[in-house]
Amino acid sequence: MKKTTLVMFASLMFAGTAVALEGNPLAGKMKAAACAACHGADGNSAAPSFPKLAGQGERYLVKQITDIKTGARPVPMMAGQTDNLSEQDIADIAAYYASKAISTGQADPAIVDKGAAIYRGGIADRNIPACAACHSPTGSGMAAAGFPALGGQHADYTAAQLKAFRAAADGREGRTNDGDAMVMRTIAFKLSDSEIEAVSSFIQGLHP
Ligand code: HEC
Ligand code: HEC
Repeated sequence: MKKTTLVMFASLMFAGTAVALEGNPLAGKMKAAACAACHGADGNSAAPSFPKLAGQGERYLVKQITDIKTGARPVPMMAGQTDNLSEQDIADIAAYYASKAISTGQADPAIVDKGAAIYRGGIADRNIPACAACHSPTGSGMAAAGFPALGGQHADYTAAQLKAFRAAADGREGRTNDGDAMVMRTIAFKLSDSEIEAVSSFIQGLHP
């Protein structure tokens, strides 16, 4: 029964017509208490490999927490953390983090220009689209469409995700939950290590 609901929920999400549950940020704050150890009390994690969740769009957060719960996005460090969360709990937690402001970081001056060029303009001769087209020029994403905010995120985490999408596109173990269109796998597959490093550093310094 629960599984059927989840499958229906997932297919609704991918059809883009999800009737999302209304999240309550105050209830979410309490339900997120166990998450604070890694993601920070206000969603601004200290460790660079733990993603900041503050200011992230609700739709994206609901999808990721659900994907982590179902195993569509395996996160071994979060084993057991999401098992008992109901759809309402997930909506509440997402609403809580979405209501917080992300703390921003700084880009490495040595590679910021290279990263900015990729973020704003892509790499035309290799058919790499501008990240800004979907993640917005300021890195605030497009919450309603489920395109995540990136601005201010730890560069280490961003680079790890791009490498995980790239590995999956190459048939290796990686991140595969970017939908049937494989948007991020297709883009990341074309990026070199130094391009990933530069664009991730630029993103860390963006103020959404
Ligand atoms: C022991 C540390 C730890 C705890 C506790 C933890 N997480 Fe995570 N979480 C992580 C790590 C590490 C990642 C990144 C995994 C990766 O690299 O793909 C992550 C990823 C995420 C993401 C994906 C973020 C993104 O930008 O895509 C969400 C959402 C998330 N966690 C929510 C939660 C929630 C909600 C809780 C509490 C119920 C929680 N986490 C508890 C370590 C933790
Ligand atoms: C056509 C739209 C589109 C373009 C262009 C695009 N992205 Fe994405 N990106 C997405 C979507 C949609 C997701 C969410 C996938 C999911 O639901 O797991 C995403 C996810 C990500 C994530 C994971 C975020 C997190 O918190 O875990 C990173 C990092 C990322 N994109 C970086 C980039 C970079 C860098 C570029 C440019 C080189 C780029 N994207 C271009 C649509 C796009």
